[in-house]
Amino acid sequence: MKVVVTGASGYVGTAVLERLSESGHQIKAIARHRGAQAPSQVRWVLGDIRDMDLVEPFEGADAIIHLIGIIREMPRERVTFELMHVGTTQRVLTAMEAAGVSRLVHMSALGTRANAVSSYHRTKWEAEKLVAASGLDATMIRPSLMFGGHPPFFELLQSLTRLPSVPVPGDGKTLFQPVSRRDVADLMVRVLEDSASFGLTMEVGGPDRFTLNALFDFMAQRGGRSKPAKLHVPLGLVGAAARLSHVLPIPITPDQLAMLTEPNITDDTRWHRWVADPQALASWSAE
Ligand SMILES: NC(=O)c1ccc[n+]([C@@H]2O[C@H](COP(=O)([O-])OP(=O)(O)OC[C@H]3O[C@@H](n4cnc5c(N)ncnc54)[C@H](OP(=O)(O)O)[C@@H]3O)[C@@H](O)[C@H]2O)c1
Repeated sequence: MKVVVTGASGYVGTAVLERLSESGHQIKAIARHRGAQAPSQVRWVLGDIRDMDLVEPFEGADAIIHLIGIIREMPRERVTFELMHVGTTQRVLTAMEAAGVSRLVHMSALGTRANAVSSYHRTKWEAEKLVAASGLDATMIRPSLMFGGHPPFFELLQSLTRLPSVPVPGDGKTLFQPVSRRDVADLMVRVLEDSASFGLTMEVGGPDRFTLNALFDFMAQRGGRSKPAKLHVPLGLVGAAARLSHVLPIPITPDQLAMLTEPNITDDTRWHRWVADPQALASWSAE
């Protein structure tokens, strides 16, 4: 197939390009910068998704994999959830219609729902609604946190475990269900040509659930250290610090705090039809 990938140079995009290439697809990749580890046959179309022409790169494609998304807003640079999730999805859908492309694999996120607490999830929901209303042959994927390679979130946890005492927001008992980046990429590539996936929105979590406390322990041990001492910081205090994250180098925004304090788990196993044996976090080795 001829496949166009948006957000192709990012953490997930890198794995998607690798899987597409292994499966023999022709790949066009969209991002502002070329991905350093991309297979050599990938054709890059460099530009800013907010204003670049998408119709020409989409012309002749059999499918689009739309990955672009952000985790932190930078309003002064016009980087907002509304623009990057809802606006770019609308641009992708409009360009697909103009270019006559009907197959879309759309990246969303676990926790996406109407009236979600975080703006991240609320705007992912708005984007999903646009896709659902588009009439395209779309498959939507909602993964939990991803591991494999160098995931920024897990690397942040690891760096915090080097402190004498790890600051944990609240009791640290929120549950997560991390899933391998490679499995998510496999899924996105395997559903591409399978009409059984058209119209599905699948939640994608790994085989095990972990509290935030346990993820800190796991990352400390992965870094060769013993389980770290934890300082459970009241949520009100973390929230107050997070509200200053736009002016001070505080590694958590109010939106991220909201996501860290609600369970991110799922019982949905429909995706095992395409990825039968998902990788456990415990078997994550350096790639
Ligand atoms: N990572 C996770 O654990 C996780 C979990 C669930 C869902 N997701 C979703 O998966 C998707 C990919 O996440 P990721 O972790 O791979 O993010 P990422 O590493 O930050 O990658 C984002 C990609 O989007 C591109 N991009 C950003 N702004 C752009 C712009 N204005 N114009 C063109 N390209 C732009 C970036 O390339 P340039 O900077 O070169 O432009 C990069 O290729 C997102 O939708 C995210 O919400 C991720």
